[in-house]
Amino acid sequence: MKIEEIKTEDLHPEEFIKLKVEEISSIVGTGLAVNALSGGVDSSTVTILGHRALGDRLKTYFIDNGIMREGEPEHIISLFEDMGVNVELFDANEIFFDGLRGLTDPEEKREAITQAFYKDVFGNLVMESGAKYLLQGTNLTDVEETVAGIKRQHNILAQLGIDTEETYGYKVIEPLIQLRKSGIRRVAKVLDLPEEIYKRPPFPGPALAARIIGEITPERVEIVRKATKIVEEELCNTKAFQYLAILHEDRVTGVREGKRDYGLQIEVRCWDSKDAITGSPTRLPYETLDRLAERITTEVSGVVSVTYNITKKPPSTIEAI
Ligand code: XMP
Repeated sequence: MKIEEIKTEDLHPEEFIKLKVEEISSIVGTGLAVNALSGGVDSSTVTILGHRALGDRLKTYFIDNGIMREGEPEHIISLFEDMGVNVELFDANEIFFDGLRGLTDPEEKREAITQAFYKDVFGNLVMESGAKYLLQGTNLTDVEETVAGIKRQHNILAQLGIDTEETYGYKVIEPLIQLRKSGIRRVAKVLDLPEEIYKRPPFPGPALAARIIGEITPERVEIVRKATKIVEEELCNTKAFQYLAILHEDRVTGVREGKRDYGLQIEVRCWDSKDAITGSPTRLPYETLDRLAERITTEVSGVVSVTYNITKKPPSTIEAI
C-alpha cells in the first residue's frame, strides 16, 4: 500500500499530534504496548506520542545493545525521567554481539541486528509483558530506501512483506511513517521535547555497527566509539546534517617514534543534506580537519590514518554499511 507523504511545509503539528494520539489510543484500546527509545528524534517523538495516548500502558525500554555511543543509555534515560517518562534499561549486549559474531557482509550484519532486536529482544519482552503492540518511529525515507533495495533499514518490516504478528508475536504501530525527518523535528518541538532532542543529528538504528567495516566486536566498537566522540565534539557547531567516524577493515603502515606501526584507519564523514536522500560533504576548514587527525591519532589507540570522505550521496551513502 502506498504511503501518503505529509510534506514538512504542509504539516500542522498540533493537528497531527491530536490525530496520532487518538489513533494509537483506539488501536491499542485497553491493552498494553511497548516501545524502544534510542534518544533519536524519531523514537523520542513516538515515546511522547505513545505516553500521551496510553500513559502507563506504554512500557518504554532503552535497549543497550552494546553498539551505542558513549554514555548514551544513562543520558537519554535521565533526560526522559526529567520529563516524567519512566524508561527501563534492558541489557542486550550479549544478544547483539552473539548475533553479529563472524559476520562481515553489510546486509547480513543489518539482518542480524533486525533479528536480535525484533525476535530475541522484543519477542521476549512483549511476551513477558503481555503487550500486543510495538510502537516505533519509522519514517518515510527509511521505507523508501529499503523498498528501493539501497540498504535494509533495520526497522522496516511490514513494507518488506513481513507479518510481524506471525513472525514475532506482536503488531507494529508506526505513527510517523508519512513524515520526513524535518517534519518529525517540528512535531518533536511542539511536543515540548528538549532542543537537544529535536535538533539532534540523525543516528542510525544499527548505531555504531553501521560504521564498522568488517566484523563487529566489542573491541572494534570501542575504537569507533572513541573516534565518534571526538568527531562529535569537533563538528557539533558546524550546522552540518550529520557527522560520523568509520572504522575501516584494512590496516596501513604507519610510523610512531621512529618505529613501524601497522595500524588502523578511521574515515571521517560530514554531510550537508536536507533529507538524507542526497548529500554532499561539508567544506570543512582545513584547520578543523587537521585537529580531527591530530586528536584521533593521539587519543584513539592504534589509529595511524585519518581520511575525510569527499564523495557525494549518491554514489556514496551516508553511513558505511
Ligand atoms: P544512508 O546510509 O542510507 O542513511 O545514506 C540515510 C539516513 O538514514 C540513517 N540510517 C538509518 N536509520 N535505521 C535508521 O533508523 C537504519 O537502519 C539506518 N541506516 C542508516 C543514516 O544515519 C542517515 O541519516
